[in-house]
Amino acid sequence: MNFKEEIERRRTFAVIAHPDAGKTTLTEKLLLFGGAIHVAGAVKSNKIKKSATSDFMEIERQRGISVSTSVMSFEYQGRKINILDTPGHEDFAEDTYRTLTAVDSVIIVIDGAKGVERQTLRLMEVCRMRSTPVIVFINKLDREARDPFDLLDEIEKELKISVVPLSWPVGAGSSFKGVYNRYEKELQLFYSTDKQRISDVEEKRISDLNSAEAAKALGESARDKLKEDLELIDAVHDDFDRKAYDAGKLAPVFFGSAVNNFGVRELLNCFVQIAPYPRPSTADLREIDPFEQKLTGFVFKIHANLDPNHRDRIAFLKICSGTFERNKAYTHVRSGKQLRFSAPNTFLADKKSIVDLSYPGDIVGLHDTGNFKIGDTLTEGEGLNFKGIPSFSPELFRYIENADPMKSKQLAKGVDQLMDEGVAQLFTLKTNGRKIIGCVGMLQFDVIQYRLEHEYGAKCRYEAIQLHKACWFVSDNKAQSDDFMARKYTNIALDKHGRNVFLADSPYSLQMAQEKFTDIRFYFTSEF
Ligand code: G4P
Repeated sequence: MNFKEEIERRRTFAVIAHPDAGKTTLTEKLLLFGGAIHVAGAVKSNKIKKSATSDFMEIERQRGISVSTSVMSFEYQGRKINILDTPGHEDFAEDTYRTLTAVDSVIIVIDGAKGVERQTLRLMEVCRMRSTPVIVFINKLDREARDPFDLLDEIEKELKISVVPLSWPVGAGSSFKGVYNRYEKELQLFYSTDKQRISDVEEKRISDLNSAEAAKALGESARDKLKEDLELIDAVHDDFDRKAYDAGKLAPVFFGSAVNNFGVRELLNCFVQIAPYPRPSTADLREIDPFEQKLTGFVFKIHANLDPNHRDRIAFLKICSGTFERNKAYTHVRSGKQLRFSAPNTFLADKKSIVDLSYPGDIVGLHDTGNFKIGDTLTEGEGLNFKGIPSFSPELFRYIENADPMKSKQLAKGVDQLMDEGVAQLFTLKTNGRKIIGCVGMLQFDVIQYRLEHEYGAKCRYEAIQLHKACWFVSDNKAQSDDFMARKYTNIALDKHGRNVFLADSPYSLQMAQEKFTDIRFYFTSEF
């Protein structure tokens, strides 16, 4: 297979969802249908379960698991599928947002009884920012679910994307009979099967809805209702438009029940046909085409070793163009250093192995002794950086203080490395140099404290600070910018890249600043 064909057969994506909608279950079932695993349950859940163990012990356990599930690759119908895992807990949503910068498309799982939920909205916002193609899977049809037309309406309105149902459910919950596949034009009947395996699934399909067989299987009234529904869908929804999907403007929708292996094969079959192969990426200097011969790639995730005696980490590199070769020297753009990697890892289901050659769309795991930060770029010499690895304004803030004066060096190093990993954001106040940690969820504070102690032997303590948001700001009007900084001096901090950030202490103070300093542009993400 040549270089071009290798790229064109790659499908790199993530399954995303509001917690509990069925992301883990669906991911696992995709692996099962893809033949990457043979029994469900082989891939451990990365959910933080409310269990007897304390949260951070649970998080440590999860970290162990999530190294192996960071990327799950398998071959299906001649395609190479790379599924990137995202954390199951909302407090680590920022990790998910970063992972979304490394995918070419997503599958969003929605719980059929709950519809669009808070986290679904935020994830979709990130997809919209990047025009990521989206497929929707409406899950848990084996339970009572909302009316499918209402669900589609809600998705269109709330997620601000047009939809086209490619499958359609007959009933839900106790009256769930199956789904009609509009793509293949056939009815697939539902019955409960072995949830763990698929080898013995006998699938019953009917292609003629007018047949006596269809009437018998569904019952006359359900069959007639299905025919009416399908006519209505034909009237209301346009046909599937590949271009609109590619542009992130139209989402095909599937219905099913992941835990029952139902509707998953249809989803996967359609996915491999329509999901895009690696798309061009935007860098600061220019657009990068995946078919360019020279390597470019960026680090979207860093995983620290769980064993404190081995301080090495794994940096996950998304290849954007060219090939990545083992033992070849590449330029680490931020430092200008030449780095070579003797044991880059690839991932097949939950096994990792050393890989000699990787292509755009692939993710390689690189052993790192502290060279990498999230967002770093590797090239064959060109000094470019990729765009689109944003930090979002955190919503929770605390001062971080040293609780053991003998260990201040360890603390500084630990904080520095954890921030490079993207565990949270650090802001340094300009007035007095005090350090403030900004997080999305409370658990992140616990993780930092726990990891500082266990990995770096440092102790920290937090102090409360009342802040509303951190916003990055720029202005072409230097006089106004200077005036703003002088007046708000106690609320101006530097982020870890040395950029100015306004730490607004209330929605009111932010609004006042926006109204008064009209030549200053305030941003709630670090990418603008
Ligand atoms: P998440 O990763 O999106 O957070 O969700 P996850 O897959 O862990 O699923 C959340 C719960 O929903 C799980 O139940 C799972 O078994 C269940 N679930 C997933 N798909 C379906 C489905 O199609 N139908 C029904 N009825 N349930 C489904 P749990 O009780 O929290 O966990 P478990 O003990 O079953 O693992």
